[in-house]
Amino acid sequence: MVENSLSSASITDSLATHFIGQRVIYYPRLTSTMDVAKREAQQGATEGTIVIADEQTAGKGRMQRTWLSPRGSIALSIILYPSVLYLPYLIMLASLAVVYSIKTVTGLESQVKWPNDVLINGRKVCGILVESGVRGNVVDYAIIGIGVNVNLRLSDFPEILPIATSLSDELGRNVSRLDVIRCLLVEIERLYLALPAGESIYQKWRDSLVTLGRKVRVKSGKTVYGGIAESVAEDGSLLLRRPDGSLTKIVAGDVTLRD
Ligand code: BTN
Repeated sequence: MVENSLSSASITDSLATHFIGQRVIYYPRLTSTMDVAKREAQQGATEGTIVIADEQTAGKGRMQRTWLSPRGSIALSIILYPSVLYLPYLIMLASLAVVYSIKTVTGLESQVKWPNDVLINGRKVCGILVESGVRGNVVDYAIIGIGVNVNLRLSDFPEILPIATSLSDELGRNVSRLDVIRCLLVEIERLYLALPAGESIYQKWRDSLVTLGRKVRVKSGKTVYGGIAESVAEDGSLLLRRPDGSLTKIVAGDVTLRD
């Protein structure tokens, strides 16, 4: 069934997780789920609490950008309290969970573009933002924010049409957001709980990157680098082979595939 709006009960009902998504704070309309999740985390919300909105009016993207988040999309934030050791892996496990969930629910293949865009046929279907509060070696909280274009007609959004897609545009039919959300929460919990057992999220994430081996342009702050995306380090940084043969480590940036 393809539902029009979400509710806390519809998400928690027979949700097969131990803690992620077992408490849901739902809003029909909200500025940004990140802001509410941060406030909740600072007030000690239970680990795994999610904040979810049918629509965001001031969705936050990476690098201070805005994230378009109209009705029909998924906008959710998950509150976690991980060890500082696991912080770099949150982006990796979130993007893998999105790829697995899209495949399970729709059969569509998607890929990760460094660091955490999920693409279908070269267009962005999902963005992920991780924000954390860290003091020294102590993580006060970490929030994984996930935005998925589910039932959006991209022709209604000409500003992102050239670079974005949605599950419904790819399939030619609408998709149950509840199915995607439930699958996503299960996958994130599974990957998160496997971290202490040493399961290599890093290797799986590296293998899913569409970026590696490709000629790229990387914008990091005000600097633009060109080269071949050679590899990624275990902390999530991109290792870029420059035309002069040197290797540059890039911690954060935007990649454009050039070939
Ligand atoms: C990006 O690709 O720039 C990251 C986009 C992250 C969007 C999600 S939607 C849910 C959560 N709330 C926000 O305001 N942003 C994240």
